[in-house]
Amino acid sequence: TGMFTFDPGFLATSSCESKITYIDGDLGQLYYRGYPIEQLAEQSDYLEVCYLLINGELPTAQQSAEFNRTVMSHTMVHEQLTRFFNGFRRDAHPMAMMVGVVGALSAFYQDSLDINNEEHRKVAMFRLISKIPTIAAMCYRYNQGLPFVYPRNDLSYTANFMHMMFSTPCEPYVPNPVLVRALDVIFTLHADHEQNASTSTVRLAGSSGANPFACIAAGIACLWGPSHGGANEAVLLMLDEIGSVDKVPAFMEGVKAKTHKLMGFGHRVYKNMDPRASVMRRICYEVLNELGLQNDPKFKLAMELERIALEDSYFIERKLYPNVDFYSGIVQSALGIPVPMFTVIFALARTVGWISHWNEMIADPGMKIGRPRQQYTGATKRDYVPADQRG
Ligand code: CMC
Repeated sequence: TGMFTFDPGFLATSSCESKITYIDGDLGQLYYRGYPIEQLAEQSDYLEVCYLLINGELPTAQQSAEFNRTVMSHTMVHEQLTRFFNGFRRDAHPMAMMVGVVGALSAFYQDSLDINNEEHRKVAMFRLISKIPTIAAMCYRYNQGLPFVYPRNDLSYTANFMHMMFSTPCEPYVPNPVLVRALDVIFTLHADHEQNASTSTVRLAGSSGANPFACIAAGIACLWGPSHGGANEAVLLMLDEIGSVDKVPAFMEGVKAKTHKLMGFGHRVYKNMDPRASVMRRICYEVLNELGLQNDPKFKLAMELERIALEDSYFIERKLYPNVDFYSGIVQSALGIPVPMFTVIFALARTVGWISHWNEMIADPGMKIGRPRQQYTGATKRDYVPADQRG
């Protein structure tokens, strides 16, 4: 013990003031700049949500058109950046490549690194939002041994991402509006979530004055952990492991005996249905219908797990509800996105949240370097002993 409050895991400590996102975990509500997530997911689109998160207000039609034009005209990466990939093994995890390549942006865009210059900060934010989908798609293409696809600025932000993921030189990707919309909603639902571990990492990195590209690379590194961004991947692995509907009762017995968890259920903050999960559940049905996959065994298995869990006293007593990851992995795999890319999609969508928090912090004249204290529990003072006298 010492003179500082001991609060490992920040269970009782606010690390900052923020005007961006509000979560009411007991009621299961999430707001971006005061707007309920359900309304944004239904009526807005991802780029408008980006504008809202960064600027604090929804754009007018003219501001929106200008914002979209600016984002879509920065989508190319420096051609030399594409050579970075050749240094990675083909089987590198796409998040490993993301951490490296996004960090390397600071070596390419040196004219937007002065964090005290508002114009530099704005340019860096645009560059990150514009280029993240390009880099994410490149990670996937490199894994697949497919050529990189240049962005198309005549498409929407999300349709362009699918184009860069799925077009080949022989056959362009033809955007399916239902699927593009589904991915756009996934982006919106993941755009921000107040002071989660990766956002706090970005703030802490940024508090030293580090440049925004380096800070976002730090956020990506944190997101990669299985307790944070890796949960939707875990849901799909769990469905594979269970295998079929008849194995569900035995699996549930194991959950209650605490031999394993029901992945995609429970949340540190939400002790009610995660509002993003309700939206994602609907999108999940829409996508599977569109693709004729309603009878897909994996989907049926997921719905059976959900049905049993929602009726079971173990889950009811502990307030364990499905979280967004329970459904988002199913949707993404129906869209043809491979499991290791799920966390990359999360990073892509969360970049705007990270950068909005970073900018909010830097613009605050009272900003201080983040410097937690500790409770020292090591050895007390002792004298050095030469090696031949240690025993
Ligand atoms: N399956 C079975 N039991 C569970 C689960 C689960 N998924 N989650 C919590 N519990 C039990 C836990 O064993 C404990 O039981 P008891 O009171 O008998 O000891 C009780 O529920 C309370 O759980 P906790 O571990 O104290 O809750 P937490 O707030 O520390 O953990 C969590 C939250 C998300 C880490 C946890 O629910 C979990 O591991 N869920 C599965 C993984 C998952 O889906 N993670 C995604 C979270 S959302 C992603 C994001 O927003 O980044």
